[in-house]
Formats: sequence, C-alpha cells, structure tokens
Amino acid sequence: MKNPLQTFGFQILTSSKTGEPALPRLSRRGFIALSASLGSSCSMISSAKTDANDQVAKVDPASAPARTTANTTYRTPQVRGPVPRNPDLNLPASGPTSGITFSRVAVSQPYIAITFDDGPHPKNTPRLLDMLRERNVRATFYVIGRNVDLYPNVLRRTVSEGHEIGNHTYSHPILSKLGDSTVRDELLKCRDAVARAAGVKPRTLRPPYGALLQRQREWVHRELDYPTIMWSVDPLDWKRPGPSVVTSRILSNTTPGAIVLAHDLHSSTVDAMPATLDGLLNKGYKFVTVSQLLAMGNQTAPGQVASGQ
Ligand code: NI
Repeated sequence: MKNPLQTFGFQILTSSKTGEPALPRLSRRGFIALSASLGSSCSMISSAKTDANDQVAKVDPASAPARTTANTTYRTPQVRGPVPRNPDLNLPASGPTSGITFSRVAVSQPYIAITFDDGPHPKNTPRLLDMLRERNVRATFYVIGRNVDLYPNVLRRTVSEGHEIGNHTYSHPILSKLGDSTVRDELLKCRDAVARAAGVKPRTLRPPYGALLQRQREWVHRELDYPTIMWSVDPLDWKRPGPSVVTSRILSNTTPGAIVLAHDLHSSTVDAMPATLDGLLNKGYKFVTVSQLLAMGNQTAPGQVASGQ
C-alpha cells in the first residue's frame, strides 16, 4: 500500500539488513523536493540520516533541486574552552623559519593583507564582498572546505572578484592534536573542495586556532608547498566585542607588512568592515593578498629587514 507520505513526494526508506519494512523515514532529498514543490524555501533540513545499508529509491537527478543558500544548513564552528592564540607574534619577521611561517612580512611600503577566516558564509561573505568591491580592496579568505561544499557559489564569486583563497582545513579541527595522515586528509579535502568550486588551489595554510606544531609546519611546507600563515593583528572579533571595538583594535595595531585576522563568519565583524577598511585606506595602507605580501618580503635582500615605519 502506498504510504500517504509518498503522495507528497517523500521517499520511504527500508532496511536491507532485516528485509523488513523499516519505520518510514524521510530522506533529505524528499524533504527538499516537497519544499520546492510547495514553492517555498526552507532553511531547515530534516535531520533524518541514512545508513550505508539503506536502500534509497532512485531519483532522477534532473528533478533534484540544486542546493541553494536557502536549503542548506550552516553551523557556526563551536569553540570550547580557551583556544591558543598566535604563539608566533614575537618571532622576527625574517629568520630560519621565515619561509615556513609568517605572522607579518617586512616591507618598505605600507602594504598589508587582511584575511577572513571560516567562510564562506551565505550572507556575511557576499555582504563583505560588496564592501571590498566598493573600495577596490583585495583580501585573502581562509575557507573551511565543508563550507565551500555548502556554498560553492559564494566561493566562485570571491575568486572572480580577485580575492585569494587559503586553506583552513575541511572541518576546522585542532591540527596539532592529530596524526599526520589526518592532517593531510583535512588539507587535501579542503584543497579539493576549493578546486571543485572555483577551479583554483589555495596558496597558503592558516591552521584553525593557529594550532600547528613546528614539525607539522615543516612537512606541510615540504609536501604541499603551503607556508603557514599566522597573523600580527588580532581584534578578537570572534568574541563579538562589537563593530566599533573591532575597528579600533585593527586601526590601532596595524603596521606596514601586517597580516590582519578577522572572520567573515560573524555578522558583527562584517559590520565593522566599512569603518575599518576606510580607516586603513585613510591612513595610506594598500591592501594586497597574502601571497602578494609574501612576494614583497621575498624581494628583500637576505639580511636586510625593511624598516616598518
Ligand atoms: Ni578558523
């Protein structure tokens, strides 16, 4: 007998383990199809899960609705307990590890790189992209691969508007606690998600929470050619101190060659950006991407550290 739910487009999943009809469960696709057929968008998705052994009724891919920002879920990465802050702030800008880790770059002109972590976000990132475009500012986005898979269009726009993409892992774990093969998987999965979405590869790595052991930084650099990018200006915007505090912290701490850390995940950070970007531009700073900033540093002759006036 046809289950009444099927009349509305739901798929009924059965268990192949027991051969018995399982309790009707709703598949995600069925739920979305129903939403679409009712002509409404829905930001909530059924939490029903399917096992690998479940038999799923065949669905014509052409009839499956495309993922949009309205029908995908997004979860703010949860941070529990104190997170390590940048332990490299006191390192010199040049030295034996300068090719592997950068917190800032020695430059002779007022160039800076502003970076945004943890996106793409379906609303905040496009809003930020508008602000950057209005001011002709280029930024670097350290994206989470999982979010790239959810919002590939946002990443495509980011790339098409001239911004640089960096690797911020696939699922935002604390890499320093993980084995090499898991770290490698996290980085490669993020890289592949970026390549799938926008046809580019991340150029540099920012480890979540800045947590990456020196030994890990060395093999990642050797194997994947990623320099580890930390930061020299941290407004602690993830604590959501309010837009004006974020702005004043960035304006008062930025110096030439700075790498500024911010998060396009948080709407209050994006709210802070018009005043922050205008303030930095008024002070004469010129925005470049992280790779551009690194290239400027590499032009400095060995032993010569450009003064950061
Ligand atoms: Ni992060």
